[in-house]
This record gives sequence, C-alpha cells and structure tokens, in this order.
Amino acid sequence: IPVEPFVLVVFGATGDLSRRKLIPAMFQRDAAGQLPEGAEIFGVSRSKLDHAEFVAQAKAAVEEHVPQAERPALLVERFLKRLHYVAADATGDGGWAELAEQLKPFKDRVVVFYLATGPALFGPICERLGRFGLADGDARVVVEKPVGKDGESAHAVNEAISRVFPEDRVYRIDHYLGKETVQNLMALRFANGLFEPLWNAAHIDHVQITVAESLGVEGRAGYYDTAGALRDMVQNHILQLLCLVAMEPPAHLAADAVRDEKLKVLRALQPAQEHSWVRGQYRAGASAGGPVPGYLDELGAPESQTETFVALKAEIGNWRWAGVPFYLRTGKRLAERVSEIVITFRPVPHSVFGEGAGPIQPNRLVIRLQPDEGVKLWLMIKDPGPGGMRLRPVPLDMSFAAAFNARNPDAYERLVLDVVRGNQTLFMRRDEVEAAWAWIDPILEAWSQAPEPPKPYTAGTWGPSAAIALIERDGRTWADGAP
Ligand code: BG6
Repeated sequence: IPVEPFVLVVFGATGDLSRRKLIPAMFQRDAAGQLPEGAEIFGVSRSKLDHAEFVAQAKAAVEEHVPQAERPALLVERFLKRLHYVAADATGDGGWAELAEQLKPFKDRVVVFYLATGPALFGPICERLGRFGLADGDARVVVEKPVGKDGESAHAVNEAISRVFPEDRVYRIDHYLGKETVQNLMALRFANGLFEPLWNAAHIDHVQITVAESLGVEGRAGYYDTAGALRDMVQNHILQLLCLVAMEPPAHLAADAVRDEKLKVLRALQPAQEHSWVRGQYRAGASAGGPVPGYLDELGAPESQTETFVALKAEIGNWRWAGVPFYLRTGKRLAERVSEIVITFRPVPHSVFGEGAGPIQPNRLVIRLQPDEGVKLWLMIKDPGPGGMRLRPVPLDMSFAAAFNARNPDAYERLVLDVVRGNQTLFMRRDEVEAAWAWIDPILEAWSQAPEPPKPYTAGTWGPSAAIALIERDGRTWADGAP
C-alpha cells in the first residue's frame, strides 16, 4: 500500500540503531519506490554536526549495511537529498525552537517522531515535543524497547508519554513483530485449518522458543550491563513470540483485536518458580573460528552480575495451555545464531510397529525466524526399501528463500511505514508492556536477592549446563536442529 508524504524525525540519529537499522531501512524502502515525493527525514541528536556531516554519516551507514548490488549510486544520491539535521538537546531546550521552525513547512504531513534513545529520554523528549507545539494534530511517536527497566519505571515512562500523546498515536516498537516469519506465524495458525484444532494442551506436549545469538555485546556493554538478557530479549521479543503462539484467534487483524488477545496470554502467565530459570554469563571461548573474550573483558570491569543468557520455563494458566511448558532461551555468544519456535506434539498413544521399526518420535513443527527463514514439519515415515518397516523422522521443509525469490525485508522497513499508515497491529500497547513487566519483575527481584552470580558458560557453547538440566529434568531436550 503506498504511503502519503511524511516526515520522519529520528532522535538519537547518530546512534547505533539509527545507523544500523533506521537509515538503511528507509533507504531500502526508497530504493523500492515506496517513499513518495516529499518524504523527508530529519536527524536529531546532541552532536553539533552540520548538514553535510550528517549526510556523510548516513551515506556511510547505507554503504555499510546495504549490499552493494542493492544501492546504485543514483538511488543513494536521491535518498540523501531527503535528509536534514538539527542539533537539539533531549534534556534541555537548546535547539528545539530551531527544530520547530524547520518542521513548520510540513505541518500538513504525517509527522513521526522516532525516539531511538534510551527510555530515560522518552519523557523529556515528549514533554518538549508538547511544549514546542510539535505533538499536535496527527503527530505520532515511536519508542524503542526497553520501555523502562521494570514495571514501575515502565509505568512512569508510559505516563510521561501519555501526557503528550494519546495511546492511538503511540507506537511501541518490538522489531521482532516486524520479522517476516513472525507475521507468518499468524498466517500459519489462522490461514490454515490444519493446525488450529491441534493447537492446545490435548495435542501439544511443549513449546520451545530459542533466540540464540553468536555475537557478544558488541560495543553496547554500557547499555547491556544495565539490562541483561531478561530485560533485553525476554520481556519484549520472546514474550511477544510466546503471545503469538499462544493467543486465541483474534476476530480480525485490527490492532486492538490482536493486542487484546496477546494481553490475555500475558495476564495468564503463571508466576515463574525459583527452580524454573537459569541465568548465565559468558567467559572467553571461541566463536566463528576464532578466540573471543569473555563478557567481563568486553565490559572492562572486574565483576558484574548481569546475565548474558537466560533459560526459563513458563506456564500459561488457561484452558488451552494448562500443563504445557513453554521453554524460553536466549543468550549472547552461543554456539550459533538461530531463532526458532519449536512446537512438539504429543506422542502417538500406541505403536503398531514392532521394536525393529525404531522409536516413534513425536511430530514437531519448527518455525525458523532466522537465519534460513522457513517452516519445517517433522513427520515419521517409512525408510524406503524392501527391508521391512523401519521408521524415521523426515521434515516437510519449506524454506522461504527457496520458495520465494525475493529479498527478505528488514523488520524496520515494514514497521516504520506501518506507523506512517497508522497501523498499530504490530506495536505493543501500553497494557501489554506493563503486563509483561508484571511477569518479569518477580524474577528480577529474586535475582537481586540471590547470593549466587550467573553461571559461567564458555563462549561458543549452548549456555550453562544447568540450562540443559532445566529441560531434561522434565524428560525433554532442547531441539537444537535435531528432529
Ligand atoms: C535487540 C537487542 O532488541 O535485538 C539486541 O537489544 C539483540 O541485544 C537484537 O542483539 C537481536 O535482534 P535480531 O533482529 O538481530 O535478532
């Protein structure tokens, strides 16, 4: 769907997110012919850059993050013409009158303020947007996760935002919701009759959600050490994935219909039990064929209690899911970069095959978010040949790359244009964010009281052995690509 001319104002424009994601995403949409004539992008940050310096930074960001074949010079030049820069201080009034002045000619456009900054600045920036008359009309605000660092601070941040922007103009971004495969999860569940009748405790044994990264904290140790894996990944991305797996079918895809269903899941989460989590922190090891330092070395500190890995067992107290564990796992510097959701169905009640046929493994549906996006359904089949009945698991394998000859757009490309279109379906509502914190807070609280530090694990492995014990105690194993 084409979008109308808009103005995107990025706060934190010289930061990591803007460079790695927002600028390249906007370039890609422009190159695809989706940015209309008159779409303008303003960078705002404290740095006293001039226009040419900001344009040079943006150009470097496009060159670094967009493959060469996808950025012909003419398109890059056209894109750079859309850029403007204003230096303004998020916590003072310096630069704001100038920003207001520069935005004046665009009063009639959709204006999107994208706060690619830490949550501590959301309140001060919104307050100034209000005071300088920039929040009026149809202006929208996008805030990055994490919204707050616990339930109380999230509530305060949301209050500060809501003093200036009504909820229907607030877009809390969780970029996992913009990933193609995540949206496909909804297609898989609600555009196929096959799965939904089986999608419950009577037929599903358990669910695993793994978001494993091979990278370390990559120069973000300052932020990361105040967050840790639970806040950085579980409170938002992983719980959102859990919601999409577990929610009831919404009546339609309107934003509140979907968000109402996700909220019910979050509110039905049972409090996590003491023995149902494991936190870890990586030590030096090997990754991508070379040695890598430990977390403390990357942080440059002698000690830290921050977890770079967490595994949890979650349970949803409702009729559909009672007794079905959801095993959640995420970490930095793990054995490989892989994000997937694995639904394991219940075993057949009785085998008609003799022992020689081998074990019958339960069916598994694997939704691979990245890399190699796709869906696999593991089925038991007969080994070919005349030698009698031997069974083995084989996947029905749908790889998106093989099925569709198209570039997989980055989540931000979709999400920023959704804001311009005014579509909040893939954004988190305030009550969702606060409900997610309500489940996370007691875990954080228990950790803050715990005398023992996170368990060490060697970089390049699957995390501390206790995470394996967590699931094996229940007679199950982490899927890790196995049938
Ligand atoms: C971000 C986290 O939200 O998601 C990062 O802050 C993490 O720590 C990133 O690396 C992972 O995103 P993706 O899209 O690379 O899986």
